[in-house]
Amino acid sequence: MRLLVFATLLGVLLDADALQIQCYQCEEMKHNDCSTPEYIVNCTVNVQDMCQKEVLVKPDGIHYRKSCASSGACLIASSGYQQFCTGRLNSVCISCCNTPLCNGPKRKRPVPSAATANLQTDGIRL
Ligand SMILES: *[C@@H]1O[C@H](CO)[C@@H](O)[C@H](O)[C@H]1NC(C)=O
Repeated sequence: MRLLVFATLLGVLLDADALQIQCYQCEEMKHNDCSTPEYIVNCTVNVQDMCQKEVLVKPDGIHYRKSCASSGACLIASSGYQQFCTGRLNSVCISCCNTPLCNGPKRKRPVPSAATANLQTDGIRL
């Protein structure tokens, strides 16, 4: 009997491991999209299965809010705010994704150092 309990517990723990993702999390950061390691959190096992990202366009600039979320809550929020996702002032866009750290940087593109140098001389900031 005790062995069975132990085995069940172990099974739960192993399952839990499989279902944990990590996301970037921050409260309303201005201009900074908090995609750096210090903002990484472990999401609640078996509950928060998605990463959520909110991009708000305010008079003083772009604000970012990121968190772990349950897929249900995130998808409802994202569809509910779709009409406000205009890209203009007071725009609010909410997106959801379900792979580890998927609410990180907008684009992941390794930039060769030569290309970076060229872009910088053109005055373009990445
Ligand atoms: C997330 O979980 C891993 C493994 O369980 C642990 O090593 C790490 O410190 C945790 N990170 C945070 C930010 O809690």
